[in-house]
Amino acid sequence: MVPADSFREDVIAGLSQPHKALPPKYFYDAEGSRLFERICRLPEYYPTRAELALTRAHCADIARFAGRGCELIEYGSGASLKTRLLLRALRPSVYVPVDISQAALAGAAQRLSREFSWLHIFAVVGDFSQPLRLPVFRARDGRRRVVYFPGSTIGNLDIEEAQAFLSMSRAQVGTGGAMLIGVDLKKDATLLHAAYNDAKGVTARFNLNLLRRINRELDADFDLRRFRHYAYYNASLGRVEMHLVSLARQAVRIGRHRFAFERGETIHTENSCKYSVEEFRALAAQAGFRGAKLWQDRQGLFALHGLVAA
Ligand code: AVJ
Repeated sequence: MVPADSFREDVIAGLSQPHKALPPKYFYDAEGSRLFERICRLPEYYPTRAELALTRAHCADIARFAGRGCELIEYGSGASLKTRLLLRALRPSVYVPVDISQAALAGAAQRLSREFSWLHIFAVVGDFSQPLRLPVFRARDGRRRVVYFPGSTIGNLDIEEAQAFLSMSRAQVGTGGAMLIGVDLKKDATLLHAAYNDAKGVTARFNLNLLRRINRELDADFDLRRFRHYAYYNASLGRVEMHLVSLARQAVRIGRHRFAFERGETIHTENSCKYSVEEFRALAAQAGFRGAKLWQDRQGLFALHGLVAA
């Protein structure tokens, strides 16, 4: 659970800006997490399947790159099938899943410890935008440390934040360390548009659920019928943007605060940045990583980068 106070502060601050915006990390309450899992199974949403296929096809090679017996830190709860494939092939000496959801972590850790009885798990509740501290856990001599960041979650960060995250990871893995990171590729706008505007409207519900959550947790009165999901590929910035469009001129109350909306005004709820291989390698290089390995599908949908501390 995210502390309610920081949720409130972030929402008030986000809606007080000239261009209203909300942080995408708040999508993932129980209902939002369920909807996201449905998104991952949608025919239009290619990234999950593409990354899983890459992980499955190149498992042995990926494990060789990361180094069997390494210390593996994953940003994400570790509930995914691709993580389990990786754990089986890699047999890390320690596995540290880091996630903002205590519930997701606890559930995943329990399932993983049943499936992998040999695995040492140190689950850490945390937010990858903050420098992570791992008090109980220090890199042992000779053991390689590897940060695993799948799912193209890095796409949620803007360039500066992505840079900061990669630099933090570089410091975390130290000399000789590595990173394994899934990054969604730039591609045809039609495919991107379909992936974020699915026919069943699951992504729309996922987006609107953020308002439902604000209503429930922050005593607000958003009328969900008066906002509409809007997602498009902003080609000049290389990112899919998700917004909620106000369908009327209206006022919304959140606790003691009131927010006015023009008809057509939007709340920017998410960026999903797309990187070519070269763009991402340049970004990683600035954080002190060298692009050592690359796993990619033939259609150019998704990239899994193996980076080593330069
Ligand atoms: C979890 C951030 C990678 O950006 O594609 C899916 C979230 N948003 N559909 C993405 C998301 C709308 C997803 N990430």
